[in-house]
Amino acid sequence: MKDLLTIFFGALATILFSFTGIVMMSNIQYGRLEPIVLEEGEPAYPRTPSGEAMQGKEVYVDLGCIYCHSQQVRRKGFGADFERGWGDRQSVPRDYILQKRVLLGTMRTGPDLMNVGDRIPTRDWHHLHLYDPKITSPGSIMSPFAFLYKKQKIQGDELSPNALTFPPDYENAPEEGYEVVPTERAHVLVEYLLSLKLDYELPESKFAE
Ligand code: HEC
Repeated sequence: MKDLLTIFFGALATILFSFTGIVMMSNIQYGRLEPIVLEEGEPAYPRTPSGEAMQGKEVYVDLGCIYCHSQQVRRKGFGADFERGWGDRQSVPRDYILQKRVLLGTMRTGPDLMNVGDRIPTRDWHHLHLYDPKITSPGSIMSPFAFLYKKQKIQGDELSPNALTFPPDYENAPEEGYEVVPTERAHVLVEYLLSLKLDYELPESKFAE
């Protein structure tokens, strides 16, 4: 009987201790973080992403981009994130507070994407890269996402405004009279990538000197 009581209180203490450490402490530290207005008249940071960017996030989750990409810039001295040009400052908890689902990621087969919208702000680049990563990044091992694009007959003499422009020596370019255009999923996915920016300073994290 005495042993049973010891086991009961031991188990209770273990649960209470871990609940306090994991749930309560993190809530006390991060639970009350709010967006912050850095300059009067400016919007608060972090910014609310556009509706298209939020839809694009679903596509990102759906296609498993998280298996190869993280979204967290580590602080100086913890790895080579700054040297690789993945951000001018580390990411901090406040950067994520508007996200219902935080895609920190655990694998870095590809570069960190926390600041990719700032690093590569060109829509066309992202479309070509998703269609066939080897076009923009020779030797890339990233999987192509060409199924997010559709080939169609060119209407009239002009290409559609959103048609992909392939380099002249690209061997898999569509044949004469055809063009490749992004589907809605590719469009919103690229809007999401462009929205990933760490271009504002927070009081708790300043840009690196
Ligand atoms: C099998 C692993 C893998 C998967 C899955 C993957 N990527 Fe990549 N990604 C890479 C690698 C490796 C690179 C670096 C070479 C390159 O630029 O293609 C990269 C590069 C990138 C870059 C350029 C980043 C930079 O700073 O140059 C973007 C943007 C990107 N990936 C987006 C995505 C998106 C969006 C998805 C999901 C639709 C995705 N990736 C899925 C491996 C992957």
